[in-house]
Formats: sequence, structure tokens, C-alpha cells
Amino acid sequence: MDDWQGRIDALREQALAELDKADEHETIEQWRITYLGRRGALTEMLRGLSGLPADQRPAAGQSANEVKRVLELALERQQGAARGKALTKALEEERIDVTLPGRPVSRGGLHPTTIILRQITGFFQSIGYQVVEGPEVELDKYNFEMLNIPANHPARDMWDTLYVNPPEVLMRTHTSPMQARVMEDRVTTARKEGVDPPPVRVIVPGRCYRYEAQDATHEWMFYQVEGLAVDRGITMADLKGTLFAFARHIFGSKVKVRFRCDYFPFVEPGVDMGISTPEIKGGDWLEILGAGMVHPKVLQMAGYDPEKYTGFAFGMGPERIAMLKYGITDIRQFYANDPRFLEQFVS
Ligand code: FA5
Repeated sequence: MDDWQGRIDALREQALAELDKADEHETIEQWRITYLGRRGALTEMLRGLSGLPADQRPAAGQSANEVKRVLELALERQQGAARGKALTKALEEERIDVTLPGRPVSRGGLHPTTIILRQITGFFQSIGYQVVEGPEVELDKYNFEMLNIPANHPARDMWDTLYVNPPEVLMRTHTSPMQARVMEDRVTTARKEGVDPPPVRVIVPGRCYRYEAQDATHEWMFYQVEGLAVDRGITMADLKGTLFAFARHIFGSKVKVRFRCDYFPFVEPGVDMGISTPEIKGGDWLEILGAGMVHPKVLQMAGYDPEKYTGFAFGMGPERIAMLKYGITDIRQFYANDPRFLEQFVS
């Protein structure tokens, strides 16, 4: 019995000393298995009780159970301490330094086309034009017929058309169909009210599509901005004055403008407008838009009496204007989605 008592005391001392050193979850668990586990040292000793003489067993059993309780209590305490330590450590390590500066949010910006479209429409809004938009999938009727370009007319060769459902449905090749749509719409409303059709001042930004061999100045998808003014007594002087004011707004007060004869079936006379400014290409003349006086037939087809009304229209390519303004040399960069190009416009 003495020997047994000695062994169990020694076991207790050794176990408590080792537990003292175990301060992490894993080492504590290892300790538990070593001493209190199913094959642990204490369990082995309890099993050995049966080898003792019968009169010594109760006392030996009692002291073994006491040691077990002591060890279990010590284990619980040590586990608690380890948990506390782990928590403190985690709090230390994961502490948020609220004084650190935040990570900068990377800023997006407007696309160069959007920037120029806003400048263009902004100018025309400031002189009383209304911004309207129209369908990109268009009918032959509006893209060609009502613009005085009948089927099989050679002028159709000016537009390389993408058909969705030939021959009626196509991707619009320009924003000019909105001339016909807007006038027709105004006439329909006026007729219902039994009044004369009202004057028109509209500006139409939007995408156009052409079956185009792409190069540095031609995309198959690009934007146009159409303008239309219809009223009593509008003359070519109005066209020139308006477009000159527009050119000054976009290119600055040193800009010069030039109008030359051009042909579009829906205007008569037709012109192209060029600009020249010392800042761009050493003052070379550069074409920026097509324009003209709305053809009487176009007015008539839409329901405006060409005896009473006249008007002017123009159509420009905003990418080409942006290219001049920002010194962009290849139009294909606009829609290639290369951040190195686009980032340059973030202000
Ligand atoms: C027209 O599309 C006429 N509808 C313009 C017009 C409107 C004339 C009203 C008279 C009255 P044009 O095909 O020239 O015309 O195109 C007008 C502008 O669109 C061009 O000056 C150019 O800036 C732009 N453009 C035309 N094709 C392309 C293309 N493939 N890629 C980029 N821009 C283009």
C-alpha cells in the first residue's frame, strides 16, 4: 500500500508539474491523454487496484479518486487560462489600427465619348434644343425612304448597311432617321389638336452602325449627333451662325469655320463644315460635320408644308471631334476597353 501510495503521490506531482508547463490547447490536450485518457497513467493505476490486498483497496481507491479529481480540476483551470491567453493574443494581433489611412478607392471616370457628347448636347441645350434619342434598330423607311433615298437609288452606296431583317429592318447607319421620326411625331400630335405643326429644335446623340472596313478613322460602331431646326423663315444664315457658335464652344474663340458644297440626298443645298485652329494640326482645315437645308421633299414626307416651313440639319461624329480635341490618332482605341487609354480621361 505504501508503495502504491508513493506511486500515486509521485504521479500527482509529476502530472501537476507538467500541466503547469502546458499552456496551449494542444499541449494541454496531450497532457489530458497522457494522464487522464483511457490508456492514461492514472487509469492504469486505477486498474492496478485489483492487484492490492482487499483491505487496502478502499483507501487506495479513495486516494486515487482524489488525485483524479485534483487533476481534473487542475486541467479545467489550465484550459480556462489557455483560452484566456489565446483570446488576448488574438485581440492583440487582430487589433484594428483606426488611425491608419484608408485604402484609396480607385476612381473611374467618364468615357471620352461621353465627355464630348455632354459638351455637344450641353451647348445645344443652352440655346434651346431638346435632347431626344431614337432606335438603333431602324426601319428602312426612316433610315432611307423618308430621307429622300428611295430603294435602288445610287445614294444608298454612301451607307454600308447592316441588315437585321432585310430589306425592312436594319441597324441605323446614321442618326438622320430621327429627323423624319421627330417631324412625323410633331405633325401627328398637331393634327389631333387641329393646329399647325410646331417649330422643331432637337439634338439627337446615339450609336450608328456600318458595314465598314475599320481603319484609324472608321469604326463599324460609332456615335453621331444629329441636329434639326425647323421653323418659319429659317435660312442658311441660321445654319452657319449656329454651327459657328458651336465650333467656338468646342474648339475655342480662335477657331475658323469653312463651309463647302457637299451632297446628302436629304438636304439642299448640302455642305460639309471644316474647322481650323492654330492648336490643332498647325491650323489645317479639318472636316467635322455634314449639314444643309432640309430638303423640301423630306419636310413634305413628314407632313411639314415646305411652302411655309424651312429648316436646317446637321450630323457630326463625336469621336472624330474628340480625336481632334484630345490628339487621339486611332478611333479604334475608343471601344477597345484598354484602361491605359481610358485612364487618361479621368480627371
Ligand atoms: C451622314 O451620316 C449624314 N447623316 C450627316 C448629315 C446629317 C448630313 C444631316 C446632312 C444633314 P456621313 O456619312 O458623312 O453623313 O457621317 C457623318 C459623320 O459621322 C462623319 O463626318 C464622321 O464624323 C462620322 N462617321 C461616319 N462614318 C464613320 C465611321 N465609320 N466611324 C466613325 N465615324 C464615322
